Amino acid sequence: MTHKKSPADTCVLVTGGCGFIGSHTVVCLLKQGYQVVIVDDLSNASEKVLDRIDQIVGPEAAERLSFYRADVNDREALECIFDEEPVDCVIHFAGYKAVGESVQKPIEYYSNNIGNTLTLVDAMRDHGVKSIIFSSSATVYGDPDALPLTEESPKKPATNPYGWTKWMIEEILRSLTIADPEWNVVLLRYFNPIGAHPSGLMGEDPKGIPNNLLPYVAQVAVGRRDAVHVFGDDYDTPDGTGVRDYIHVMDLAAGHVAALAWMEGRTGCEVFNLGTGNGTSVLEIIKAFSAACGKELPYVIEPRRAGDVTANWADCTKAKELLGWEARYGIAEMCRDSWNWQSHNPNGYEEEQ
Ligand code: WQD
Repeated sequence: MTHKKSPADTCVLVTGGCGFIGSHTVVCLLKQGYQVVIVDDLSNASEKVLDRIDQIVGPEAAERLSFYRADVNDREALECIFDEEPVDCVIHFAGYKAVGESVQKPIEYYSNNIGNTLTLVDAMRDHGVKSIIFSSSATVYGDPDALPLTEESPKKPATNPYGWTKWMIEEILRSLTIADPEWNVVLLRYFNPIGAHPSGLMGEDPKGIPNNLLPYVAQVAVGRRDAVHVFGDDYDTPDGTGVRDYIHVMDLAAGHVAALAWMEGRTGCEVFNLGTGNGTSVLEIIKAFSAACGKELPYVIEPRRAGDVTANWADCTKAKELLGWEARYGIAEMCRDSWNWQSHNPNGYEEEQ
């Protein structure tokens, strides 16, 4: 009979652990009793996140967290970390993630996202660590033929280099499990992560003008931007605006912890969708956020944005049946927590201007 390791005896290395999804996942891991090692170069995250994590989890749990400021592509730095820390499993978030920027900077995106993954798995192999959870995306489904999307739905060509990196890294990790049956890979395909920690201490903090809907809406609510630009109202959807499966970042974080517990002692490659199973339109989001912040948010209709799909939402039956996980929060709570974060931290992790 295989003996499962307890969280206290399990050390999880989290790349990109200071980022939006990474930081919330680190909080969940620490609360569950895991030992956590963050590797983050802070190229798109703030070191202040570490203080916020400590505040949320408290001093006893914070003892189980260590942080290395390093680029995952830095092989020597990884060597030192794997020599120093008794890593059992890796959760790999680190990567560039701006869709539009990836079109302008394909070399940087392919080299950073794919390069750092290859460096990471090579270092893992050399240290006998063969369990990895990868931060993939519903973007790999492209423009869907049928909804909801199950894990069996076909992967379609990506429409930008960012999407291709997710697409290819999935295949790279799958290849590892074919070459060496000791590898244990979980690919988590996120739908649209939004929301923030309910404490208001952690949330999404994009640099510059937000590309994604929710941070943009939140900045309109806090007065940093004039109006939401709605990209297209002529889609074949009930109100003409794009429909997505928004998921609370705390649910997403819990999905990683569930996957980690499930994969222990297994091998092979398994894919899970992490969403809610519900589709919400852009106008519905603006309405829900207006309710959360207590004022009507202005918006203007703009032409469609290149590369956007009409609608997507997930079938999450597999995650429910195998991982025992399902999303608990709805749109109202996602907007409430996002507003709580944004209103208490109007400039994100930066000090007041
Ligand atoms: C959602 C909806 C827009 C902004 C992208 C990536 C995906 C993942 C999440 C990220 C769409 C509309 C948006 C705005 C708008 N990865 N919109 N005005 O495009 O579904 O997914 O982000 O790291 O891989 O592709 O998310 O939030 O950009 O857009 O009307 O200012 O909101 O057209 O219908 P998307 P999104």
